[in-house]
Amino acid sequence: MVATVNGSSHPAATEEYKFLIYGKTGWIGGLLGKLCADQGISYEYGAGRLENRAQLQEDIARVKPTHVFNAAGVTGRPNVDWCETHKVETIRANVIGTLTLADVCKQHNLLLVNYATGCIFEYDDAHPLGTGIGFKEEDTPNFHGSYYSKTKAMVEELLKEFDNVCTLRVRMPITGDLTTPRNFITKITRYEKVVNIPNSMTILDELLPISIEMAKRNLHGIWNFTNPGVVSHNEILEMYKKYVDPSFTYKNFTLEEQAKVIVAARSNNELDASKLHNEFPEMLSIKDSLIKYVFEPNKKVNTF
Ligand SMILES: NC(=O)c1ccc[n+]([C@@H]2O[C@H](COP(=O)([O-])OP(=O)(O)OC[C@H]3O[C@@H](n4cnc5c(N)ncnc54)[C@H](OP(=O)(O)O)[C@@H]3O)[C@@H](O)[C@H]2O)c1
Repeated sequence: MVATVNGSSHPAATEEYKFLIYGKTGWIGGLLGKLCADQGISYEYGAGRLENRAQLQEDIARVKPTHVFNAAGVTGRPNVDWCETHKVETIRANVIGTLTLADVCKQHNLLLVNYATGCIFEYDDAHPLGTGIGFKEEDTPNFHGSYYSKTKAMVEELLKEFDNVCTLRVRMPITGDLTTPRNFITKITRYEKVVNIPNSMTILDELLPISIEMAKRNLHGIWNFTNPGVVSHNEILEMYKKYVDPSFTYKNFTLEEQAKVIVAARSNNELDASKLHNEFPEMLSIKDSLIKYVFEPNKKVNTF
């Protein structure tokens, strides 16, 4: 299920958009293309590698976009631990590549909507777990436990100087397609053991259409791109049991035990989503969005 963004007075109905999207073979880039097709928005995927300035220039000359979207970057396979042993490749795509694209877009006076990450923060004394005090857009990243996050924080800092960039801090993205291995819910239902920590998360079915609307409104700057509130691993797994599979079982382990089976640390945090919520007041809380976009459409159990 894909949401529509209602009530916008910004784009004229007749206005012509042409989107240039990077990340054709990726999860978020693929979803974005489908969404444009569903909404009748003209789009093309970029053929260039992000770090190849000449190829990016060629893409822009060919496509003549009104807006550019970046859903390309290395995320690591099978997970971000890959970046620990591939630091140059990580810098090439996520730092040099993203900056090159931002700079080329700046030269062409084009807005770049950049799917970035909110995994650059971790709970701290000023933002303790369970208090509802989330990190704001202007806060300085405090999580450098993985090379992936470290480079994402570096590039966010540099991108601040580009007034043509809209940085969207995505976290633990989720969709209603529970067969996708990249989906946070699919991941945690397949793990042998999971930690249990409240986190801010992004329901893509609801928020990707919002990112398109943000482009149409020419919004820029940094945005915590998560649904308001937090949800824990166990709360999601209990919803999964309730709606999808009552026989499902799971086991928890501590952060210390988790550290033994991963290479790099993972970030856990709450992002303050009020800036996005003020712009899109219809946006649902994380728990309501999970029910609407994930669990109701996948319901196999009569819950009443
Ligand atoms: N999925 C998550 O959990 C998550 C969470 C927060 C933020 N994000 C961010 O959202 C963005 C998209 O994530 P995703 O999950 O959709 O990633 P993904 O499925 O791993 O796809 C990455 C895409 O980037 C392309 N790419 C990689 N290096 C490139 C380069 N140097 N030049 C051009 N294209 C390149 C890949 O194409 P090739 O196959 O041709 O290399 C692929 O199409 C990433 O920046 C990621 O950091 C993701």
